[in-house]
Amino acid sequence: MAILVTGGAGYIGSHTCVELQNSGYDVVVYDNLSNSSEKSLERVEALTGKKVKFYKGDILDRDCLNKVFKENDIDACIHFAGLKAVGESVQKPWEYYENNISGTLTLVDVMRQNNCKNIIFSSSATVYGNPAQIPITEECPKGECTNPYGWTKSMLEQILSDMQKADDEWNVILLRYFNPIGAHPSGTMGENPNGIPNNLMPYITQVAVGKLPELGVFGNDYDTPDGTGVRDYIHVVDLANGHVKALKKIEDNAGLCIYNLGTGVGYSVLDIVKNFEKANDIKIPYQIKERRAGDIATCYSDATKAKEELGWVAKYGIEDMCRDSWNWQKNNPNGYES
Ligand code: NAD
Ligand code: UFG
Repeated sequence: MAILVTGGAGYIGSHTCVELQNSGYDVVVYDNLSNSSEKSLERVEALTGKKVKFYKGDILDRDCLNKVFKENDIDACIHFAGLKAVGESVQKPWEYYENNISGTLTLVDVMRQNNCKNIIFSSSATVYGNPAQIPITEECPKGECTNPYGWTKSMLEQILSDMQKADDEWNVILLRYFNPIGAHPSGTMGENPNGIPNNLMPYITQVAVGKLPELGVFGNDYDTPDGTGVRDYIHVVDLANGHVKALKKIEDNAGLCIYNLGTGVGYSVLDIVKNFEKANDIKIPYQIKERRAGDIATCYSDATKAKEELGWVAKYGIEDMCRDSWNWQKNNPNGYES
C-alpha cells in the first residue's frame, strides 16, 4: 500500500513526504515540477534513508495518472498539486481554474476508476473570506474569496464534499491551512519561491540574506494591536504531521471531515519581524507601505477540532519557525539550485 502525493516535490508536499516515510508509509510522488525541483525529493531521501518513487506528470494528464495507479497499489491520495500565487491568479484566472479545478476533477475521476476513494485535500483559510468570527472554527461560514486562487479552493471543497455525499465509499478530508512558514530543522529543505516572494516569511529571509533591500509592510492602519495584519503562522513540519494524522482518520472510514490546521495564535507583521530579528540576531529594515488589495486585518484559527478528532497539535513556536526559515535560507541562498 502506498500514498500518492500529488505536488509532493513542492514546499508542503516534500515536508509531508519526510513525515510519511518516517511514519512507515511508502510514498509515490506525482508532480509536473512547474513550481518545484526534483532535488527536494533527494533531500527527502537523505533525511529518511528511503527512496521516493517519483513520476513527473501533470494532474491534467489522465493517461499518466492511470499509469501510476496501474503500477502502484495506491491506498490514498494527499493532493497538494495546484497553482497558488494569489496575485497571478487575478491575472490568469483561466489558467488557475483549468489547472486546479480541471486537474482535480481528472485526478478524482482516475482515482475512482481505480477504486481508490480516499483523498486529503490542501485547502486554505482563504475559504473563510473576511471571517465572520475570530478565532475561526470550522463552523464559521465560508465567505467571499477575493481572488480566483481562493475560489478554486472553495469550489474544490464543494466538489469533493458533493462527491462524498453521493458516494459514501469516499473518504474526503479537507485541511484548511493557515499560514505555513518555517523549514525542516535540518536546514536541507524549505520553501523555494520563484522570483520575488509574495509571502511574508520568504520576503523577510531574502532581505536577511541581502537579496532584497527592505521589507514593505502592507498597511499599519488595520484594526489590530499594532495596526499591521495578524495571521496564524504554522511550522511546515507541524502542518506535514497533520496530514499523517489525517491518514489515520481515513483508515477509520471517517467520510467527510474538515479541519483547520493552525496554532490558534495570531501574530502581526511587526511581531514576525521582531521575532525573526530576535531569533536570528539580524536586523530587518522595513518601510510601511499601502495596504495590499484583498488583504484582511485578522485571521487566526481555533484548532480545537483537529486536536480532539485527530490528536494533532502544533508543537513548534514562532521562534522555531523564524530560526528554521533562516537556517534554510542561509544554507541555501538560491534554494535547491544552491
Ligand atoms: P508549491 O507550489 O510548493 O507546491 C505545489 C506543487 O504542485 C509544486 O511542486 C508544483 O510543481 C505542483 N503542481 C502544480 N500544478 C500541477 C499540475 N497540474 N500537475 C502536477 N503537479 C502540479 O506549494 P505549497 O506551498 O507546497 O502548497 C501545496 C498546496 O497547499 C497547494 O495546493 C496550495 O494551494 C495549498 N496551500 C498552500 C498555502 C501556503 O501558504 N503555502 C496555504 C494554503 C493552502
Ligand atoms: N505582508 C507584508 N509584506 C509582504 C508580504 C506580506 O506586509 O511583503 C503581510 C500581509 O499584508 C499579511 C501578512 O503579511 O498581513 C501575511 O501575508 P502572506 O502573503 O504571507 O499571507 P496571506 O495571509 O496573505 O496568505 C497566505 C497564502 C494564501 C493562503 C492564506 C491562508 O498566501 O495562499 O495564507 O491563510 F490562502
